[in-house]
Amino acid sequence: MSSANDSIKNVIIVALSLCIVCSVIVSAAAVLLKPIQVKNKTLNLKENVLRSAGMLPENATKKEIEQIFDTIIPKIVDLETGEYVEPDVAGYATVGNFDQKKVQSNPATSKALSSSEDIAGIKRRERYAKVYLVTEDGQISRVILPVRGYGLWSTLYGYLTLKGDADTVIGLGFYDHKETPGLGAEVDNPSWKAQWPGKEIYNDNWQPATTLVKGNVNPNSPTAKYSVDSLSGATLTAKGVENLMRYWMGPSGFKTFLEKVRAGEANNV
Ligand SMILES: Cc1cc2nc3c(=O)[nH]c(=O)nc-3n(C[C@H](O)[C@H](O)[C@H](O)COP(=O)(O)O)c2cc1C
Repeated sequence: MSSANDSIKNVIIVALSLCIVCSVIVSAAAVLLKPIQVKNKTLNLKENVLRSAGMLPENATKKEIEQIFDTIIPKIVDLETGEYVEPDVAGYATVGNFDQKKVQSNPATSKALSSSEDIAGIKRRERYAKVYLVTEDGQISRVILPVRGYGLWSTLYGYLTLKGDADTVIGLGFYDHKETPGLGAEVDNPSWKAQWPGKEIYNDNWQPATTLVKGNVNPNSPTAKYSVDSLSGATLTAKGVENLMRYWMGPSGFKTFLEKVRAGEANNV
């Protein structure tokens, strides 16, 4: 015989109450954890910027990361003119508020690329980019640039750091992608990344010359200074890295700005 407690009404009440309690817990957790997530995301970004710039000590504490990051200067660059602009030109009150992803997707601050222009597979190119600079004695000594491009499965987002000559690589690192672990995700392998420091971006005609070589780079080749070993079993991701390097170092990317850095015309930070 079924008791009154087993009635359909009671079952529904218990189920609904459980749903309400659970959704309140999940929503509260989401709201309460949001500031921690934002903080961790910001710290992660700072770590990635510093890592690509070769400025992240091993086992750095959060405080050390913050302190070192505070020594670098964020600026907004107009990619068309290569000049610095105030953040309000790009629609933001401060450099800190500048949101690169929104600037990329907003038609007012970005343009669609034709397939022949779009060698990095990014579809739209923003007019304004946030760069980070390190100066010594009033001269730029490191230029940290956001770069991105399509690999095999995903867009790879990273930072490339060049010396003040705007040509020699200090470091390249990706902080977001969905390439396959063990294949395309080997872009994160420290031994692969170790090939980049000291490589040059431009050839004698100031054309972007980065090349990912299947097999190993021949150190005696005249192009060795622009070349890095490809990723074994992941030629498509490697091609994506080559393409994004050539795109962002080219005239649609940071080339105009880098010319100013090289000429000593961008030290007004
Ligand atoms: C499950 C799976 C995942 C793969 N992931 C990647 C990847 O992340 N990046 C990549 O370039 N190739 C990846 N490949 C391999 C490509 O399909 C392609 O074979 C490879 O890029 C060719 O490189 P190779 O000439 O060095 O062999 C994957 C293949 C399979 C079956």
